[in-house]
Amino acid sequence: MVDYTQLIAAARAAHARAYAPYSGFNVGAALLTTDGRIYQGCNIENAAYPVCLCAERAALGAAWSAGERSFAALAVIADTERPVPPCGMCRQFLLELMPDTPVVLANLRGDQLVTSPRELLPDGFAPADLLDKPKA
Ligand code: THU
Repeated sequence: MVDYTQLIAAARAAHARAYAPYSGFNVGAALLTTDGRIYQGCNIENAAYPVCLCAERAALGAAWSAGERSFAALAVIADTERPVPPCGMCRQFLLELMPDTPVVLANLRGDQLVTSPRELLPDGFAPADLLDKPKA
């Protein structure tokens, strides 16, 4: 049973480390592996705005790059009215690498919503859709 309270606390700590001088909107994420490690991520913006990295992709990118392949839960937090909804790009990114991992969306006022990448992006484009295509 995943302790969402601890994972959300780790996401909140990452939230404080965001680099978001352009939007002023901090996001934090924390990804728990099945063997108990936690990888944090925060959003990292750029003067060339489209280059911005979201917290979710920062966390999953860090974990994947460290060799992790088995995930227990992802927490995401921001100062929003509802539990922060991941952007479309992050939904696509999460669907590929952890489609059925629980995702707990949170906000600073204590609301929580547990979902999954497959629920967040129903009928999303997936690896199987490439299978019968010729390689370039
Ligand atoms: N952001 C995230 O980090 N995750 C999301 O799912 C929503 C958006 C960041 C990107 C940008 O730095 C800021 O929030 C405002 O869009």
